[in-house]
Amino acid sequence: MTEQKPVTESTAQKVPALPDAQTVTEVKHYTDRLFSFKCTRPASLRFRSGEFVMIGLMGGPDPKTGKQKPLLRAYSIASPSWDEEMEFYSIKVQDGPLTSKLQHIQPGDEVILRPKPVGTLVHDALIPGKRIWFFATGTGFAPFASLLREPQTYQDYDEVIITHTCREAGELTYGRDLIEALKDDELLNEVIGEDFWKKIKYYPTTTREESAKMGRITDLIRSGEAYADLDVEPLNPESDRAMICGNLAFNLELKEMLEEAGLEEGANSKPAQYVVEKAFLD
Ligand SMILES: Cc1cc2nc3c(=O)[nH]c(=O)nc-3n(C[C@H](O)[C@H](O)[C@H](O)COP(=O)(O)OP(=O)(O)OC[C@H]3O[C@@H](n4cnc5c(N)ncnc54)[C@H](O)[C@@H]3O)c2cc1C
Ligand SMILES: NC(=O)c1ccc[n+]([C@@H]2O[C@H](COP(=O)([O-])OP(=O)(O)OC[C@H]3O[C@@H](n4cnc5c(N)ncnc54)[C@H](OP(=O)(O)O)[C@@H]3O)[C@@H](O)[C@H]2O)c1
Repeated sequence: MTEQKPVTESTAQKVPALPDAQTVTEVKHYTDRLFSFKCTRPASLRFRSGEFVMIGLMGGPDPKTGKQKPLLRAYSIASPSWDEEMEFYSIKVQDGPLTSKLQHIQPGDEVILRPKPVGTLVHDALIPGKRIWFFATGTGFAPFASLLREPQTYQDYDEVIITHTCREAGELTYGRDLIEALKDDELLNEVIGEDFWKKIKYYPTTTREESAKMGRITDLIRSGEAYADLDVEPLNPESDRAMICGNLAFNLELKEMLEEAGLEEGANSKPAQYVVEKAFLD
């Protein structure tokens, strides 16, 4: 007969209440529409900076069966591949099935995280170049929050240009804070060297509220104003690589502009000069 040990608090294994549960460790709110949070990382999860996963919460009981199903949505991982924790940057859609609830999470709560990372905004989908452009609108900044903290970005490129277009100035805060904090990033300073941050050119713009730079990045590039402000040469297929993440119209417009400049779209299976991913479905 096997000896039965009494289950005490110290011997009992904590059973996650949710499938693929991870514990929330930090939550920050930026505006009434934007917040970020961190959670624990599944021990077995490996991902490439720039990829996305499905995350969510348990949905309410089905009115017929009473059964609860996970309510999952695609989310770019905002933290870099080497980080011990996972970070996400999220919209709050007041009547959104997931984010109407997700916006209320607190440290200690559990979220569901399916450990199957995928996506095209990865270095592997680009051929070598000298300069990389990250073009974002709204929460489309999230994959670049990961890639800006990824050493490979600075190993592969001499110059890293990040543009972020939002409606209002407060929507730029998450990105601005992250870029300011990069200067003190221990890993990047150690691996790339103290001057690594000088490779970064940050170009935030707003379209519906006064800020230092107004206008859509597409218009600012077309007019040549963005090149003049950044003091850089126009896009060219020899040296430039690009990643795009924003709303559908933005993605399509920039895609057309890059193609006109002579850049070709890449994919994991066929690396080329630029890649694109939607920041949300619409
Ligand atoms: C590949 C991919 C990656 C994504 N990564 C992120 C991410 O990192 N952060 C994030 O907040 N969302 C991201 N999304 C969107 C996300 O999957 C959900 O749509 C979002 O969390 C809202 O979920 P919901 O259930 O509350 O509302 P949904 O029913 O999913 O959306 C309701 C409506 O809200 C609007 N909306 C949804 N998401 C956004 C958004 N991010 N910004 C502005 N408007 C939006 C759209 O008009 C949409 O029709 C991503 C989507 C895709 C396809
Ligand atoms: N942001 C808000 O304050 C707010 C408030 C309430 C509801 N919403 C709703 O939430 C949804 C998403 O809003 P969002 O502001 O997060 O994202 P969004 O509508 O995708 O806009 C983000 C930024 O992208 C710009 N943009 C849009 N199309 C573009 C294009 N083709 N080329 C270049 N830039 C382009 C916008 O400029 P323009 O301003 O010129 O379009 C804006 O600066 C929308 O359905 C909106 O109605 C937003």
